[in-house]
Amino acid sequence: MSSNIERELAFAGKFVEAKLIENVEDYEATGSVTNLSNRPMYIGGDIPGVVPPWKSTILKGGRIARAERVSIVNVPDETNLGGVVLDGWDWFGNRYDAFPRTNPLYISPYDVVGEVEVNPYRFANMPSDSKFVDRYDIRLNLWWAPAKTDAFLHNEHTFLEIHTQIFGFGRIQIYRERDLNTKYREITVAPGETHDPIVRVLGDRDFRYPWHRGWTDTDAIWMAIELHPKG
Ligand SMILES: [Fe+2]
Repeated sequence: MSSNIERELAFAGKFVEAKLIENVEDYEATGSVTNLSNRPMYIGGDIPGVVPPWKSTILKGGRIARAERVSIVNVPDETNLGGVVLDGWDWFGNRYDAFPRTNPLYISPYDVVGEVEVNPYRFANMPSDSKFVDRYDIRLNLWWAPAKTDAFLHNEHTFLEIHTQIFGFGRIQIYRERDLNTKYREITVAPGETHDPIVRVLGDRDFRYPWHRGWTDTDAIWMAIELHPKG
């Protein structure tokens, strides 16, 4: 297999540069680089760096020495950045009837970037010695919301989800109940950062999530990374 097989992602556009690179070898990158594989990503340099599986970093002309599969997402110019939602995106309320009618959360097109075998217990950092592995489609999309947006309290997913922050700052806020007065945890996210999974794996394709929502401290773009069980 040849190296540095690359293509644009479906959500690349006027405001966002976004590409997928597979079988990466000595590749110069600028942007938020997410390791979309089970193997470490190595960063070149006199002192090489390591980015663990399903984590990310910012590169500014740095070189990826080696990686199995990465996304590189960059916002080169902030001028009119809120216009990203007019570049082929959709207001999330058009996709989900229960979504509050005035919350300004927008979603980009999806891109299924490949298949992967994952031990979901290991993915979730759970103290399990289960050897169970499953096959997943890796599906990416971007989200946009202006500052102080409530990206909606929810606790159900049929997939494993994490997010890479691309632009601006935000939090994953976690609640004991479906009640905004019961918050007990926050995970802050800054550009280039991928938060740890919050899923608990109870069994074969049995994923439990606490009540959680995205919250934007500033105008923000973040990338969803969803592992959808195959077939
Ligand atoms: Fe979620």
